[in-house]
Order: sequence, then C-alpha cells, then structure tokens
Amino acid sequence: MKNIAVIGVGYVGLVTGTCFADLGNRVTCVDVNEERIANLKQGILPIYEPGLEEVVRRNLAAGRLSFTTSYAEALNCPEAPAELVFIAVNTPTGVDGEAELRYVRAAAEMIAQTMDHPLIIVNKSTVPVGTGDWVADIVRNKQPKPIPFSVVSNPEFLREGSALSDFMNPDRIVLGSLDEEAAQKVAQLYLPLRGPIMITDPRTAEMIKYASNAFLATKISFINEIANICEALGADVKEVAAGMGYDKRIGRAFLDAGLGYGGSCFPKDVKALAHMANVQGKHPQLLEAVMQINADARRSIVAKVRALVGNNSTHLNRLEGKTIGVLGLAFKANTDDIRESQPIDIIRMIQADGGTVKAYDPVAMPNAAKVLHNVKLCADAYEVAEGSDALILATEWNEFKNLDLARIKRIMKQPVIVDGRNLYDPPAMRELGFIYRGVGRGY
Ligand code: UDX
Repeated sequence: MKNIAVIGVGYVGLVTGTCFADLGNRVTCVDVNEERIANLKQGILPIYEPGLEEVVRRNLAAGRLSFTTSYAEALNCPEAPAELVFIAVNTPTGVDGEAELRYVRAAAEMIAQTMDHPLIIVNKSTVPVGTGDWVADIVRNKQPKPIPFSVVSNPEFLREGSALSDFMNPDRIVLGSLDEEAAQKVAQLYLPLRGPIMITDPRTAEMIKYASNAFLATKISFINEIANICEALGADVKEVAAGMGYDKRIGRAFLDAGLGYGGSCFPKDVKALAHMANVQGKHPQLLEAVMQINADARRSIVAKVRALVGNNSTHLNRLEGKTIGVLGLAFKANTDDIRESQPIDIIRMIQADGGTVKAYDPVAMPNAAKVLHNVKLCADAYEVAEGSDALILATEWNEFKNLDLARIKRIMKQPVIVDGRNLYDPPAMRELGFIYRGVGRGY
C-alpha cells in the first residue's frame, strides 16, 4: 500500500487514481475545478466511462479514494504523506499544433511550492519529448527550499470506453527516468497487474507514447487509403483487412476503415509529433499524409451524401432542402466524448452545404448540444430516420447494429444510407431496398 496523489481528475487522472485505489493504495485526487471535486466527493463523475462510477463509489466508501482542491491536503496529509504524485492534466493543442503545457507547468509549480517532504513526481500527461527535464527544472526553481525529488515519465495507453480494463490489463508499462530507484518504486505500483514493465530514459519513454499513437493513426489512415482504392476497383476493404490481419506481422487491430480517427488523443498527438519534427528541421512526410487522409475520410462521407441525394441545380447549394439524419455524435462508441468528433465535423459540412440535420446519440447528446447549432436532437434512431433524405451511420454504438431496418426504410423520405462504420452488409441492405454506401466496399 502506498500513499499517492493524482493531479487532474479528467479522463486519465480519474481512471488512474481510481484504479490505484482499487489495487489497495490510498489515493487523493486534486483538481482546481471546485464543482468537479464537489461532485466526485458524492460519486458523481464528470465523464462517461463504462464501469468507472461503480469503482469510484466503492473506493470512496472504503476510504481509499478521496478528492480535494487542496494540494497541501493531497501531498502533505500528516497521517498519509504522499510518496508519489502523478501529473495527469490535459495538454491541449496550441496554435502551431504543439502540445500546450500551461496546465503541466501550473501543476509542477504547485507541487514545488507545496511539497514538504521528498516526492517522486510521475508524469502521465502526454507531453513533448524533453518535458521530464523541463518539469524537473520548474520544480527545482520554484521550491522555497530544496527538498529532494525525482521525475519519472509514465505515459498512459488507455482507450476511452475500455479504460478500466486497459489499466488493469496493460500491454506494457513504460517508465522513463534517470533515477533507477524512483522508477523501481513506480514499477512496484504496477506489479499486481503483471504486465511487462520497461524502464528507459525519460525522452525515450515520452517518444514511445507519441510513436505508438502515431503508428495506430497510420494504420487507420492506411486502411482508409486502401478503402478508397477498393471502391474504385470493386474490392471489399472489410475482407481485405481480415485477410491482411491473419498475418501476425500486420495484425487485424486498427484496420477498420471508416470516418478516420477522432478523439482527444490521436489527432492531437500526431499533430504534436509532426510539430516536434518540424521544429527540429525534419520533414515528417508520413505523418502529414496520415493527417490529410484522415481529414479526407470525413469529407468523403459528405461527398457520398451529395452524390446520392444532392441537388444538381446551380441555383441551389448541393444539400439545400435536404434533411440528413446522423446516427451517433461521439468520436467512437461507448463514450460521451465529442472532442475532434468526426460526426460533429460532418454535420458542420452538411450545414455549410445548405442541409438540415437531425441527430441522435445514446450518451453524447448533452455534450454535442453545447457545440452544435440548428440540429434537431432526437429521442432515437427512428425519429432521426423519419422524413430524412439520407441517413449517415456515424458512431458504431451497439444499439445501431440491430435496428429495424424495414421500419427505417418505410419512414425515410428516400431509402439512402451512408454507413461510415461499415456496420451493415451491403448485399443485405440492397436486398432490403436501400441505396447503400459503406466505406471501401466496392463490390
Ligand atoms: C487512443 C489510444 O488507443 C490510447 O492508447 C491512447 O492512450 C489514447 O488514444 P482513444 O482515443 O480512446 O484511445 O480511442 P481509440 O479506440 O484508439 O480510437 C481512436 C479513433 O480511431 C476513434 O475515432 C475510432 O473510431 C477510430 N478508429 C479506431 C478507426 O477509425 N479505425 C480503427 O480500426 C480503430
């Protein structure tokens, strides 16, 4: 059992703190947002993540997990002084595509000013290569009097929607530090998870995170490029991906063609890696192509809708007078996150083209309502379909997998479905009388 402080109760901080508490540690999570902390004390979460609320409540009740806005309480509690403090604040994209470090700086400064005993500072936020050294400098310079500390980089690899099981069943734990003893202490926390633990230097650890996410994003853009070619040549990208995936060197994961990647990590991390490369005078050609193909995946969905139901008159915008239904608003299933969400982007493109949009998502509608304008948010998929000229399947929620498609066809104005997630079977859809387009399904 160790005493741990976690800074930031966003996605990464909350999952990390909660899981460490569940493993028997005593964890205090600190955040500057008073409303979030007040809610969390009552077990009310700021995010939707399957299973997380139950684990938070269980550990709150057991007294292993607590929430505060006070750094002093989190770090220096007399009965349980923290031995390790995790920085898990967000690093939004800055104006030039770089990862913005103002919250990391604020956390490092607060730690420096508050700590009254030696600490291991563990950085979980995704930060530019070299940030470990920068954090150490900040802490050293801001301490009122010198107190020993070490910095360890420990990138996270959690996926939204399956974050708990990703945490508890890690493919690997990466630790980067020049202080072997500090790295070993962090490693001990993860021993119960039985995942491989790799200890390296801080810059390499930080790079492993960027390279991993950039590689996965590359797989997605690769299969979307193949999908495009499949459409032209009459092949089925789903079968192509399955056939490729049998090769162990390739693997089947992250070869689902569709709307491209969205969310809080891939878009930001690929951009930040390209930015780091450019700053160093390197030319990240592959990363640039990955980003361009990703942007095209969204545009190509709108292009399909235009081609199927758009006006041909030069007096009208292509989608003027057309109602387009959008099923799903989250950037993927099992999350309410709409950051860099493909469906939201697609909706804006349709609106810019004169179209009217109706939409439904099982959990992301409250978030989407804050950023969308003039979109009719519906109670379910059927209300979206009613009177629509075309339906876009934008997020692969389970509840869209077994829709009553005969009913959908009856209530739509035109039976047109553009399936951005390749959820349906093209021949079966045609059999039902739909005009159906998936992504990369050229047969
Ligand atoms: C990702 C990484 O997987 C995780 O390791 C990291 O820590 C944070 O970023 P997440 O953003 O939660 O996790 O989502 P992920 O499941 O990886 O999907 C990212 C995006 O790619 C989603 O929009 C998803 O729909 C899309 N995707 C994924 C595809 O388009 N095709 C695929 O084959 C896989």
